[in-house]
Amino acid sequence: MGEIDREADVFGRIDDGENVGVNPSTEPTIGEVIERRLSRRAALRALGAGAAVAGLGSTGLLGAGEALAAGPSSFAFKEIAHTLDERDHVPEGYETQVVIRWGDRISTDSPAFDVSRQSVAAQEMQFGYNNDFLGYLPLPIGSSNSENGLLFVNHEYTIAGLMWPGLPAGSDAALATSKGQTEIELAAHGASVVEVRKTGGKWQVVGNSKYNRRITGTTPMTLTGPAAGHARLKTGADATGTKVLGMLNNCAGGVTPWGTVVTAEENFNGYFGGDAASTPDAAMHKRYGITSKAWYSWSRHHARFDVTKEPNEVNRFGWMVEIDPHDPASTPMKRTALGRFKHEGAHAVVDKSGQVVFYMGDDERGDYVYKFVTSGKYDPGNRAANLRLLDSGTLHVAQFKDDGKLAWLPLVHGQGPLTEANGFKDQGEVLIYARKAADLLKATPMDRPEDVEPNPVTGSVFVILTNNSRRTADKVDKANPRADNRHGHIIEIVPPGGSGKNADHVAPDATWNMFLVAGKPGIDAGTVYHRATSENGWLSCPDNCAFDSKGRMLIATDGAPSAAQVADGVYLADVRGPGRALTRLFYQAPTGAEVCGPCLTPDDKTLFLAIQHPAEDKGSTFEKPSTRWPDFNAELPPRPSVIAVVKKDGGVIGS
Ligand code: FEO
Ligand code: CA
Ligand code: CA
Repeated sequence: MGEIDREADVFGRIDDGENVGVNPSTEPTIGEVIERRLSRRAALRALGAGAAVAGLGSTGLLGAGEALAAGPSSFAFKEIAHTLDERDHVPEGYETQVVIRWGDRISTDSPAFDVSRQSVAAQEMQFGYNNDFLGYLPLPIGSSNSENGLLFVNHEYTIAGLMWPGLPAGSDAALATSKGQTEIELAAHGASVVEVRKTGGKWQVVGNSKYNRRITGTTPMTLTGPAAGHARLKTGADATGTKVLGMLNNCAGGVTPWGTVVTAEENFNGYFGGDAASTPDAAMHKRYGITSKAWYSWSRHHARFDVTKEPNEVNRFGWMVEIDPHDPASTPMKRTALGRFKHEGAHAVVDKSGQVVFYMGDDERGDYVYKFVTSGKYDPGNRAANLRLLDSGTLHVAQFKDDGKLAWLPLVHGQGPLTEANGFKDQGEVLIYARKAADLLKATPMDRPEDVEPNPVTGSVFVILTNNSRRTADKVDKANPRADNRHGHIIEIVPPGGSGKNADHVAPDATWNMFLVAGKPGIDAGTVYHRATSENGWLSCPDNCAFDSKGRMLIATDGAPSAAQVADGVYLADVRGPGRALTRLFYQAPTGAEVCGPCLTPDDKTLFLAIQHPAEDKGSTFEKPSTRWPDFNAELPPRPSVIAVVKKDGGVIGS
């Protein structure tokens, strides 16, 4: 989900920020800037005692004159320059391939895309809008095939003003859609599963694959786990409280060890209208951002999206949804044990105990970081049992302490403040109103937690915090060290027990340190980078991340243009050794787009990226978009697309 102010007010709306082009780079290198700005002692004081700060903690600041021309990064690609234009950019020696675009056929039976004749029937068989999370699942299941697999793709939201002509510019378009258009929008939400194959060095969709499938805003789904069947989940259409139509605003996600996908419903609140403040649940609605101001016209056309007409429908959204891409007939499961909030990813690690731990963020300014620990153990030989793991376990929320320690607090009914006296009748209510439960536990409000992802090599967990312009000076703490944090930062959580497979992800505690504080050095206060970072290596609004097989990090950004006047992109960084936190710019998106879903094949030779909302710039319309990427055809609007980035010589990404 898009730009810097999106989460608080609108989504699917055009950013109000300024895209004024690239600042010519005349500034000194970041190493020089950091040396001027920070002494080692001041850096550590600012970011917490014992913190291994962005290459400073482990190596110390190098003395003046020791700047490293190429830097100590383990990556060997030639870094690109910051841009903000209508095209995307990769380093010398790399190429991009468009794999699938909005409207493209999901199967050989799908109708061809005709932007002037969109229909529900066509969209249900075509690739949806605004691709976000990408999961690559090798075929056959359990293999590490890097040239043939299933691509699972979220379709987070729609931008009516770029889908149809004649709508007003900006945020008003989403409120001006007809009933028919809203039905097409529902069909453009959800997810796609497509089989992809690399043939002759080119990635293509396998059109006749039995796996290819669309999941939409109306696909029947089942609510499972402790809250399933709860009175607060029952509606006029579903007296059982277990059957729901569709999933909405699926942002990030994760692949489970047993080869399913968990996909995260994020800003579900914006689809619901009606006077929420007049309902008995007004206080809870408010905590979830459900107000009388809908962001879409859907509640005018569909009673279930009006909270005054169908008060519980909104409680059936905001969950993690588990989908088995290997079984095209399977029903998506909304797993209530993982709690209801504005979910970002859910990245899994099999703990040495055999239990599976999912790390998750609640992407809102001032919301929390969570982990879910399964009760049962992962059994590589029993997929049927693994498919039930997400229905039983304990949700925890993080409390970051200023001394570098972290506590994981369980959200269990009857424990601590989570009692009837405080408004929780049962565990179902604790999960349906997980945000409120976490408030009572005194979780630490964070600067928009997006991906929270365990590093498969080091065992530590990286928390990507996009930004929080609303943090005030009196609310600053060590884990969120800046007021008016427009550029975000990245924290590393270190579980006890040692590195790699020895890390204890089930433990109730951990330690944390600051990995990187984003923004433009010399311009933005409080930035912390590796001192060898180049003038193109700084970043703004980190959002999603991925790790290669060596544990090196890929960071995708969302919101950089409005915060820093450079396009969103992908930066590569080591996480340990002398190149720790030395971010280097690898990919830059077309104007208006964020970069989502960074995903490597197991051989690290293909990087799939979801390029979301190209041309979502101020004033951009269907008729006059700021870019027509990727087709550059005057007859076609810009199209959100999944691309594959490969090295022309067939080598490893970033090498
Ligand atoms: Fe959809 Fe939190 O980004
Ligand atoms: Ca985002
Ligand atoms: Ca995201």
